[in-house]
Order: sequence, then structure tokens, then C-alpha cells
Amino acid sequence: MGTVHLLDHPLIQHKLSIIRDINTGAKEFRELVEEVAMLMAYEVTRDFPLEESIVETPVAPARVKAISGKKVGVVPVLRAGLGMVSGILKLIPTAKVGHIGLYRDPETLQPVEYYCKLPTDVPERDLIVLDPMLATGGSAAAAVRFLKERGAKNIKLVCLIAAPEGIERFRKDHHDVDIFTAAIDDHLNDHGYIVPGLGDAGDRLFGTK
Ligand code: PRP
Ligand code: URA
Repeated sequence: MGTVHLLDHPLIQHKLSIIRDINTGAKEFRELVEEVAMLMAYEVTRDFPLEESIVETPVAPARVKAISGKKVGVVPVLRAGLGMVSGILKLIPTAKVGHIGLYRDPETLQPVEYYCKLPTDVPERDLIVLDPMLATGGSAAAAVRFLKERGAKNIKLVCLIAAPEGIERFRKDHHDVDIFTAAIDDHLNDHGYIVPGLGDAGDRLFGTK
């Protein structure tokens, strides 16, 4: 069964508090989502293997460690996942970026796919799926299913806030995928929104409401 990693670093928790606040405007919201994603990347990459080599410092040869030839793919779920991409790329600048477009039907709460463009070598990459809200879990589960159908083997899911219902659903569908989240909230309301959550992540990022 995949592990749920609750990232409770004080910087992440502090910034998430401001992100949640109804009085935080789109500019600050965007900046903070980027910063939290960057901080989360630190933990998400913790198991990356290192290999030793020698570099010449101005003083002497030094035995150093570097990440060994990892091919990483970052896959935001449109729209709201886009807000996390730049933060991850700051720490993993060589990652390729794929996009999966999904929206949640407001009546049925079922994910509807409208776009998919991925790096051609998906099976060889470690994939980091980005979606700030894991609510019913339907969107993230569908995104990971698309990736697996295209041959992906090594996938991690990174979100800002997860509902217990979403975690349970996602783990049932994808027991091999670890979840990294900055918070596990209380429950979902009748409209499938996370309580207390942060509202509609896409609308708050892009100012569409
Ligand atoms: C939001 C969010 C997730 C999804 C989570 O997307 O960004 O993708 O809902 O809900 P779920 O876990 O119940 O599937 P939304 O459908 O609002 O689209 P948007 O990102 O384009 O605003
Ligand atoms: N999507 C959001 O943007 N927010 C929620 O609380 C649930 C789904």
C-alpha cells in the first residue's frame, strides 16, 4: 500500500495557513502555492539515489555526491495543478512537463478528460502528479490511470490539501502510489468541497470567480 506523507514542516504549514485565508488575493495565493510546492519537492525527492564522483575544488579533489541520472516528469492536472509546476521546476529544472486536462462535473463530481500531452518516454520517467486538492479523489485517480495506461510505472501524487474520502478512494485505486500532502482536512461537503479546505483552487489561482 502506498504511504501517505503528511508534510508538516513549519514553513509549509505557515504558508498553507495564508493560502487558506479567504482574504488572500490571487497574486499572493499564486506566489504561496509556488513556494509550498517548492518546499514539498524537497521531501518528494528524498529517495532519489545519489552517485559519487570527484570534482576539483580550488584547494583539492573532493569526493562529492550527485543525483544519479534520474529522468523526472512533472504532470499537473489542469487547471489548478499548474500553480505548483514552477515551484517544482525550480528544484528539478531538467524535468519534462506533461499536462492532463480534467474537470470535475459539478453535478456528478465525476472527472471529465479534455486534454492529455505527455513526454514520449513516460515509462522511463519518475512522474510527479500535481493537483492541489484531493477531494473525492476522482480527478487524481483518473490522471494516474491515464499515466499507467501509457506505461508509467513510478508515480507520486503531490497535493496541498487532502480529504480523508479522497485518500481512501485514491489508495483503493492506486495502492502503489505514495501521496504527499501538506494537510488532511476534516471531510467533504455536499458539493464535494473539502472542509475547511481553501475553496476552489483553480478559481483562486486564476481569479475566475
Ligand atoms: C479541482 C481540483 C482537482 C479536483 C479535485 O479541479 O483542482 O483537480 O477539483 O476534486 P476531486 O478529487 O473530487 O476529483 P476542478 O474540477 O475544479 O477544475 P479546475 O482545476 O480546472 O478548476
Ligand atoms: N476542488 C477544489 O478546488 N476545491 C475543493 O475543495 C474540492 C475540489
